[in-house]
Amino acid sequence: MHEFASPALSVPLLLIFVLLLLLLLLQRKNIFITRPYRFPTGPPILPVLGNFMWMGRNPVAGLQQMATKYGKVYSIFIGSMPLVVVNSYQLVKEVLMSHDFSDRPYIPLMEIMKQNLGIVGAPYGEAWKRQRRFTLSTLRNFGFGRKTIEERILTEAKVLMETFKQEATAFDPHFNINNAVSNIICSLVFGSRFDYVDQDFQELLHLIEENLVLQGGLLGQICNIFPVLCKLPGPQQRMLTSQAKVQALVDAKIAEHRATLDPSNPRDLIDAYLAEIEKEKGDPNSPFKDKNLSMVTLDLFIAGTETTSTTLRWTLLYMMAYPDIQAACHKEIDEVVGADRLPAMEDRPKMPFVDAVIHESQRISNIVPLGVVHCTLKSVEFQNYLLPKGTMVLTNFTSVLFDESQWEAPHEFNPGRFLDGSGKFVKPDAFLVFSAGPRVCLGENLARMELFLFFTSLLQRFQFYWPDPASKPNLEPKYQFTQAPQPYKMGVRPRNL
Ligand code: HEM
Repeated sequence: MHEFASPALSVPLLLIFVLLLLLLLLQRKNIFITRPYRFPTGPPILPVLGNFMWMGRNPVAGLQQMATKYGKVYSIFIGSMPLVVVNSYQLVKEVLMSHDFSDRPYIPLMEIMKQNLGIVGAPYGEAWKRQRRFTLSTLRNFGFGRKTIEERILTEAKVLMETFKQEATAFDPHFNINNAVSNIICSLVFGSRFDYVDQDFQELLHLIEENLVLQGGLLGQICNIFPVLCKLPGPQQRMLTSQAKVQALVDAKIAEHRATLDPSNPRDLIDAYLAEIEKEKGDPNSPFKDKNLSMVTLDLFIAGTETTSTTLRWTLLYMMAYPDIQAACHKEIDEVVGADRLPAMEDRPKMPFVDAVIHESQRISNIVPLGVVHCTLKSVEFQNYLLPKGTMVLTNFTSVLFDESQWEAPHEFNPGRFLDGSGKFVKPDAFLVFSAGPRVCLGENLARMELFLFFTSLLQRFQFYWPDPASKPNLEPKYQFTQAPQPYKMGVRPRNL
């Protein structure tokens, strides 16, 4: 694989190497890196850099390929930090289900930006547990997984369809979809949706996406190895300034809420959280603090917008690539829902084919290909290896969603794998798109509702087609922490119902 070819020693590379060496000396770190006792094997480790040169570009294919050489459990080094990579459905599931692997590692950029608060990056412990439990139960109270949220999604779907009607016959749906999906989180967290032309809203979405790309990219990784860079001028400062801007926008919303708060009548997640802060203000150990509120809010935006919106874009792209499958979805939607009303969640059990198409699109598009890094809570024996406390563990979802022992011809788009002999929807155990265990995606139910309702509403009203007869839909993903489709233009034809 070209990503893993040895880097040629060019002059710029040597200069970078010397610079990094100096930085390491400045940080008083070891230059030569060795694997700990009884640690999984892996590729040779370069002094200073570890295996980081290989992680810079798209690491997904490279990590997959390494498993064929070093086995299902191997280790690489990001600078001097060891990372154990776990592959295959069986082993990834074992890691995810165990509390021993449920911590999050110390990642310098995250520490600088988020002080390990919020949910996604928070270390395993009471604070994380209470934030997670509170967020889930509050979102449930505001309609997560119930009728009210269904109505909000359908209202947003109607707005999205209107914007599709107003677009040219071929257009890039990226931002329309992003706006719609993000508005669902907005209505739960801020209590209101935004207009698609609202400047603050557009800036918030733009900054969140930019930050995700920057942090997941080469620059983010270099800063994680050499955190001292965050204090020096340079392009890396963009990450910190865009994070600060997002933070400021969220904090302004929180201040607005505080000014009009009625603790006995919370309007949304922010109000409920502010009431909790008030309730626990006498307890110095309470995790319910202003700073944590803005981090929880940010987490929901970051984890809940890009993921669902990217999945929807993939699903529409697959519909353009497989018009026969799209036609079969149209048929099922027409039979079950008809033309006179919008789809509803209670239609889902009667629409196994559409459900299968959504699941197969999720599996094959594999939007979080490497999962979110876990970390050992204590020293753990795993597959005859000894992983010291604090070892970073990467659950390679690509190896699960394309595991040949679980999926027949995994690289083919085949919704039929989610249907049994009588056409009923079945979900194989290896469908771990939302992860599993103590750190399982907090938004799984919401995301599944959004995917079903947005997808069926759009297909009820439109036919999607690839507008350029000279080319075919490009199904090669673009890696940016999540795997997104390459930007594309979509042809849209209203259906005559
Ligand atoms: C198709 C959409 C989505 C996918 C594929 C997805 C996938 C994931 C994955 C793979 C993880 C990592 C779990 C782990 O560490 O093993 C995760 C965590 C998380 N997700 Fe999602 N997610 C989606 C939508 C959402 C939505 C809509 C929300 C918000 C409402 C959300 C909130 C979170 C949070 C807060 C975590 C961190 C959980 C923790 O560390 O305790 N996600 N998600």
